Amino acid sequence: MHSAIRDFIALAEREAAAHADSADRVLAIAPAMRRLAREGVRVLSPDQMRSDPAHYNRNAIHICPQGEISLFALVWLPGQWTPVHDHGSWGVVGVLQGHLQERAYMPRDGEIKANDGIVLRRGGVVLLDPGSVSTFVPNPDHIHMTGVPEDGEICVSLHLYGRNMDSFHIYDVGAGTRKLIDVPHQKVGTDIDA
Ligand SMILES: [Fe+2]
Repeated sequence: MHSAIRDFIALAEREAAAHADSADRVLAIAPAMRRLAREGVRVLSPDQMRSDPAHYNRNAIHICPQGEISLFALVWLPGQWTPVHDHGSWGVVGVLQGHLQERAYMPRDGEIKANDGIVLRRGGVVLLDPGSVSTFVPNPDHIHMTGVPEDGEICVSLHLYGRNMDSFHIYDVGAGTRKLIDVPHQKVGTDIDA
């Protein structure tokens, strides 16, 4: 693992432990993610930035054994998108290469308390360039879809989450439903701790 990645993980673990409020955690970690993102993909090994022609690829870099944080390198080929989803966690995203889009969705009725009858309204879009950082906190849900347009270029981004991100809700906007899914990821090398 590159020393810059290792140092970032150590900082993130310290700051996550030092602050009880998710908003304070992302405030404390975002500047470090920006410094890391400005280093570009040179901080990643080839096996940490594998792509998959079938879907965007999640390369796990670090999964905290206690479950407090996890760090992934996501590789997006042109036209690859997540479904509409949430995370049930705070998160900090930094772009190393290419350009990433985040499209927001807002629940019409405030906090979502059931898996059906959900009315989502489309929100705005954030365009993230290399070195850009985006953060979110679950107040109560942060619902979005992320990806790269068909006419875009390959994008590599780092995603830090406040838990082991092995499941999340995906939303069917038209049906007004959501379901919890298990999310596979590409385990990388021997640096994975869980
Ligand atoms: Fe997301």
